Amino acid sequence: MVKKPSEEEMALLYGQDVLSAKTLTFDQLQLILKTAAYYEDALVNKRRLYDMDGKIMASLFFEASTRTRLSFEAAMHRLGGSVVTVSETPQMQTSSTAKGETLHDAIRVVDGYVDVIVVRSPMTGAAQEAADAADHPVINAGDGTGQHPTQALLDIYTVLKEHGRIEGLKVAMLGDLKYGRTVHSLVYFLKHYGCDMIFVSPPQLMMPPEITAELRGEGIKVEETSDLKAAVAEADILYVTRIQRERFPSKEEYESVKDSYIVNDEVVAVAKEGMSILHPLPRVNEIAVSVDSYPGAAYFRQAHNGVPIRMALLALTTGNVR
Ligand code: NCD
Repeated sequence: MVKKPSEEEMALLYGQDVLSAKTLTFDQLQLILKTAAYYEDALVNKRRLYDMDGKIMASLFFEASTRTRLSFEAAMHRLGGSVVTVSETPQMQTSSTAKGETLHDAIRVVDGYVDVIVVRSPMTGAAQEAADAADHPVINAGDGTGQHPTQALLDIYTVLKEHGRIEGLKVAMLGDLKYGRTVHSLVYFLKHYGCDMIFVSPPQLMMPPEITAELRGEGIKVEETSDLKAAVAEADILYVTRIQRERFPSKEEYESVKDSYIVNDEVVAVAKEGMSILHPLPRVNEIAVSVDSYPGAAYFRQAHNGVPIRMALLALTTGNVR
């Protein structure tokens, strides 16, 4: 049986918000990975858990989601807790946001109903705004083009499971590095392990320069290129992202870059031996379906890792790892 973290370790996240990968410490990151392994062991061995018995999670999704919302909700159910949900898009509103209620007011109300709040919004900074309005822990499930720390946590957990280590790995990130929030979070975790990074994108969709500068300033080796094949020839991990259509200022701008890169058999053929391919999903057409049978294609395994990671986050932030 995988050991659960000590009381002293667990104190590192108790009562905390999880808003950005940038502000999570290395020790907090280790604690989450360790607790996720503990819960994954319980899931694999079909141990019924009651850690969050009697507790309620609010699942507030003001933007489309399948994996993040359902894996958070599944995580809460696996811990024996319950869930209340708002699931809507700006086009299809069902909560009082349709009546003009602000996020601040909505959160102040929901905070009185539940023990932990998970929020996704198309607005960068929304999770921070929610945290400012709530007493209970707030977990950012994606805020606009800002951060998506829980995705990056399951990405790191996946790397660890697939490769047995993170230190010394070279990670290529491909696609929409400008608007993709998952990579904006992932780089901050990889930085802790001193990983070399290669950013592969069309010139219009490069990683925000302030992030690249920050990484370089901390001694991380970062290469920027548009040559996918050269990158996969030396990378241990290829992290593919979707072009974030909904975040483009115009349809024309999206159309001009939409099929910039496709990872197909021809690309995989030049990959370094043992390279793994990750993708936060959903995939549109940036990875050919034929690549799914490549042993290093880890994206569906990656999505499943979302449940133990989110169980760890819910139980740790509320102090309920039992
Ligand atoms: C990502 C997101 O919402 O940022 N999806 C996810 O949470 N798994 C990536 C994306 O939508 O492209």
